[in-house]
Formats: sequence, C-alpha cells, structure tokens
Amino acid sequence: MELFTPRLLLRDFQQNDLACVKELESLPETYYFESSQPNIEQITKKLQQTQAEALHSPRTSFHLAITIRPLDRVRGRVSLTLINESIREWEIGWAIHPDEWGKGFATEAAHRVLEFTFSDLQAHRVVAFSHAENTASIRGMKKLNMQQEGLLRETRPWKNGWSDEVVYSILDREWKDS
Ligand SMILES: CC(C)(COP(=O)(O)OP(=O)(O)OC[C@H]1O[C@@H](n2cnc3c(N)ncnc32)[C@H](O)[C@@H]1OP(=O)(O)O)[C@@H](O)C(=O)NCCC(=O)NCCS
Repeated sequence: MELFTPRLLLRDFQQNDLACVKELESLPETYYFESSQPNIEQITKKLQQTQAEALHSPRTSFHLAITIRPLDRVRGRVSLTLINESIREWEIGWAIHPDEWGKGFATEAAHRVLEFTFSDLQAHRVVAFSHAENTASIRGMKKLNMQQEGLLRETRPWKNGWSDEVVYSILDREWKDS
C-alpha cells in the first residue's frame, strides 16, 4: 500500500527498513511521553507483525512508514487501527524522527491517512489519544480539525507516577466539511 502527499510517501514497512526502524524506536525522544521503550527484540518482532498484518484482507490495521521523497528512508510512522467495527471507528497515531520535527511532516502524513480512512475505508470516527502534555501531538490533532472529546485522568503510568491523557476525534461529516 502506498499513499502520496506533496512531500511524502507513506508505504508498508519492508524487512530492509529494520535499521531505520531500530534507530527511530530506540530514540528516547520517540518514547518520551510513553511509559516504556521497546527493546531491540520487541522492535524486530513488531516489524515482523506489521508486515504480516499488511497481508490480511480486509485490513484492520495499517502501520505505514513515512519517507521523505525522493529518498526511500524511514523518517517516521503513522498507524491506523480499527478499534470498534460496529461504529466504524479507527484510531490514528504517529511519530517522526526528531531530526525532522517541526517541518509539518506528522500533520501532512496524518491528513493523507485521514483522507484514506474516510474515503476508502468509510470510517465514521477517527480518534487519537495523547499524553496531556504532548503539545506537538495535540497541536497536530487540532490542525487536522480534530476535536477534544475527553480528558482521561491518570490513565498512563509515567515517570514513577501517573499522567492524564486526552482523546481527540473527527467525524466523517466534519471531515467532508473541512
Ligand atoms: C508529535 C510529533 C509526531 C509531531 O511531529 P512533527 O512532524 O514535528 O509535527 P508537525 O511539524 O506536523 O507539527 C504540528 C504542530 O505542532 C507544532 N510543534 C511541533 N513540535 C512542537 C513542540 N515541541 N512544541 C510545541 N509545538 C510543536 C508545530 O509547530 C505545528 O504547529 P504549527 O503548524 O501551528 O506551528 C513528534 O513530535 C514526535 O514524533 N514525537 C514523539 C512521538 C510522539 O509523541 N507521538 C505522538 C504520540 S500521541
């Protein structure tokens, strides 16, 4: 699967992405707002699972590499997962290599994935969850016209304590109007 944006190619992961994936997933910045960081074994296994999921039909999970054209080097990832089939609800998530932060790549990639989700997958809702202090991620959600619909109190173990989590969403009718 391939999705193009003005600057990016979003595509399924390949086995020869492993070195780039290991680098991205091993950076402390990538997991700063998460409760734990995967080890090399977990990263390798996740890449294999991701490739296996890409063979499912119909697909209920898309983990796509973000590459900056024309280079075919993984500089981030965007994921899309069916979380409630009965209401056609999908969850989106993203990460970009810190060297590429602040250039609009996360928003550009997520915008294309939302377009695909509403047009091709006929989604009704797309949701995103974020650590309540993850300003960059929340700013991206707002730029995508996602609306905050909740604050989950102390749902995330973080730094020997708890952190709150925000939930944002966008509906199919809002996407059409945006
Ligand atoms: C969150 C993340 C994906 C954003 O990637 P990005 O490509 O830098 O995002 P964009 O460039 O599209 O920026 C989106 C908005 O956030 C702003 N932003 C980016 N980094 C920021 C920061 N550190 N603090 C405040 N705002 C920030 C951008 O300026 C932009 O807003 P603007 O257009 O109004 O200026 C990136 O920081 C990341 O990978 N973080 C680690 C993984 C992660 O936290 N993923 C999200 C889990 S919910």
